[in-house]
Amino acid sequence: MPRQRIAPVAPPPRSIRGFLLSAQNRMNTNESKILELQKKVAACGLSHIAFIMDGNGRWATRRGLPREAGHKAGAENFKKVVRLCGDIGIRTVTVYAFSTENWKRPAGEVRAIMRLLDRYISDAESENEENGIEYVFLGDKDGLAPALAEKCRRLETLTHGNRLLLNIALNYGGRAEITAAVNRLLAAHPESVTEADISGALYTAHCADPDLIVRTAGEVRLSNFLLWQSAYAELVFTDTLWPDYSLDDLAAAVEEFTRRTRRYGSLG
Ligand code: FPP
Repeated sequence: MPRQRIAPVAPPPRSIRGFLLSAQNRMNTNESKILELQKKVAACGLSHIAFIMDGNGRWATRRGLPREAGHKAGAENFKKVVRLCGDIGIRTVTVYAFSTENWKRPAGEVRAIMRLLDRYISDAESENEENGIEYVFLGDKDGLAPALAEKCRRLETLTHGNRLLLNIALNYGGRAEITAAVNRLLAAHPESVTEADISGALYTAHCADPDLIVRTAGEVRLSNFLLWQSAYAELVFTDTLWPDYSLDDLAAAVEEFTRRTRRYGSLG
């Protein structure tokens, strides 16, 4: 039988080779940044980071896009940042996805955010095996569309016990959370309640308080986020808009955290 000639594989053109090499370099640089961050995170005891993901609207407006496009980009980046946090050894991530005050936004924008959340939850369900994320939703599920609330509950049950804990604050407000907790406690212990009782009655009873809270997009306030739990958190503010928040921004926040001395009110 005549031997078939196999055409030699042509090397990629120079422009593509350049692109592949620079993609490879970028990957190597990111990997080494992640390794370095893993060491820092382990050494400084940073375990729980919370994010106020602000700036989606401005990100879109600056590009001449509708605000909804900013939320879409924000939701995509949120997935990436959570993955990065897991990669660098963070055990718990909490994000402010939708506050009790966000219902005041135009109906179309609220619908767009709810759709993104709904899709995100469906994806999280099907990606459970590879993601290894445990989801807990902080906030009043009764204020959500019943189908969405049911999906949240299902995801919580499905992912219970997974490695990386992700708290998603959805229809969440810090004052409403504390008020509901105190009312529930008063019904059971009308004489007095302790700080531990209150901590245990909050949506976050299953986890430790955040060590670090990061807010993007230049605003310097907590906006009703984790009011009780933030008592001793380190706060980091950055001008970066949430859809642009990158590994370098995360590295800068970790670096800033390592420079802080946490005294919890004592002198040492
Ligand atoms: C703040 O940006 C962002 C929000 C109120 C919503 C956050 C929502 C997402 C990131 C998308 C959905 C989330 C998940 C978890 C899938 P802004 O609109 O206030 O921005 P602006 O201050 O620039 O207007």
